[in-house]
Amino acid sequence: MSTAQLNKQYRKLIVGLDKEVPVRGDMYVKYINFDNAATTPPFVSVVNSVIRFCPWYSSIHRGMGYKSMVSSRIYEEARAKVLKFVGAEEKSNTVIFVKNATEGLNKLSYRLIQDKNWVVLSTWMEHHSNDLPWRDKCIVDYVEIDEEGRLSLEDLEQKLRKYRGRVKLVTVTGASNVTGYINDIHKIATLAHKHGAKIIVDGAQLVPHVPIDMKSDNSEEHIDYLVFSAHKMYAPFGIGAIVGPKKSFEYGAPEYKGGGTVHVVTRKNIYWDDPPAKEEAGSPNIIGVVALVAAIEQLTKIGMDKIKKNEKLLMDYTLSKLKQLPFLKLYGCDDGCVERVGIIPFVVMGIPHIEIAKALSEDSGIGVRNGCFCAQPYIQRLLKLTDQEIKYYKKLPDDKKPGMVRVSFGLYNTPKEVDRLVSELRRIIKSN
Ligand code: ALA
Repeated sequence: MSTAQLNKQYRKLIVGLDKEVPVRGDMYVKYINFDNAATTPPFVSVVNSVIRFCPWYSSIHRGMGYKSMVSSRIYEEARAKVLKFVGAEEKSNTVIFVKNATEGLNKLSYRLIQDKNWVVLSTWMEHHSNDLPWRDKCIVDYVEIDEEGRLSLEDLEQKLRKYRGRVKLVTVTGASNVTGYINDIHKIATLAHKHGAKIIVDGAQLVPHVPIDMKSDNSEEHIDYLVFSAHKMYAPFGIGAIVGPKKSFEYGAPEYKGGGTVHVVTRKNIYWDDPPAKEEAGSPNIIGVVALVAAIEQLTKIGMDKIKKNEKLLMDYTLSKLKQLPFLKLYGCDDGCVERVGIIPFVVMGIPHIEIAKALSEDSGIGVRNGCFCAQPYIQRLLKLTDQEIKYYKKLPDDKKPGMVRVSFGLYNTPKEVDRLVSELRRIIKSN
């Protein structure tokens, strides 16, 4: 099948691609969404599954009524579907449903750290969600990046050696939400395991775009913990997941306590339920889980390999076009020495990032993200800002702070949409 035919097929799977939005001059144009790293539109199949399920909607683990039993069964069966999708061993691992990857990483930081003197290695490449949660709970150090913003595995190894067994966790993004770089998570896992540490992968930008395999627990390459968000994989409705060893949640108390987390409570004692129930306080988000399962089914049906290949073609096409624009500086190397998901950050010399994003939206109905993408330390390094410059910019309003423009793809974006982006960028650059 040709790329054009494939694109046509994929676009039918998504809700809302025909929606027109207002632009300057009292006109309406078809919206182009190039902000998929922030959130993706839903699959049609996801919305249909939710609608089909709604008549059955009822309480989870809180009733003997027929609908409660149906809802609870669907909720529990979803865990095995998630484990299979990410290639995790079913016997030893569990799935804890959370709101999103951010909540997942926060939970892991609360639940896994047992001593303030533990060392956690995060990296310079992380989104704030895989940095801030660790800061107040243990010693955090950051694995270096090179000039192009790629993760240095030499530095990782050096740091693992330096701390002589005190590094308990290496927490790293699977793919950067800024440059799209895909980290070699299995190589990182091997290094971490060799030094007695476990690995957490923030899969928010990885899971929707490339096949993922956590591998068998016996493999030195296996991923110990994975977190991801469904709203970035065509399934809004506020759900995400942690995948990890059940055993590691047996220790201690959950950070959120309440309904659904206990076996027995007396005035004096609490006997916690087993994980995952212990970790899911309050009424579970069954609608979110139904949506997530439908998304997994749809992604599997298309094939993650195909998705990866198609998005790469689109990224290569876009890069080749953007390189022709004057005054536009691309970030992230594209010489093939590192794989990337479809994320392209850039700046246009002399035009603030916010002006570019605003013009694309207001004149052409194109949605991109601008700023620092909740990854300020990484952006500061990529932009080579000095400490003095950072101090100065801190006082300025957000729209005056340095940053970039980011184009990020979903499986449904097309070369035609890219052509419109490029011609609009050319016009903006010319008119400034
Ligand atoms: N929501 C974050 C982004 O837009 C992760 O990159």
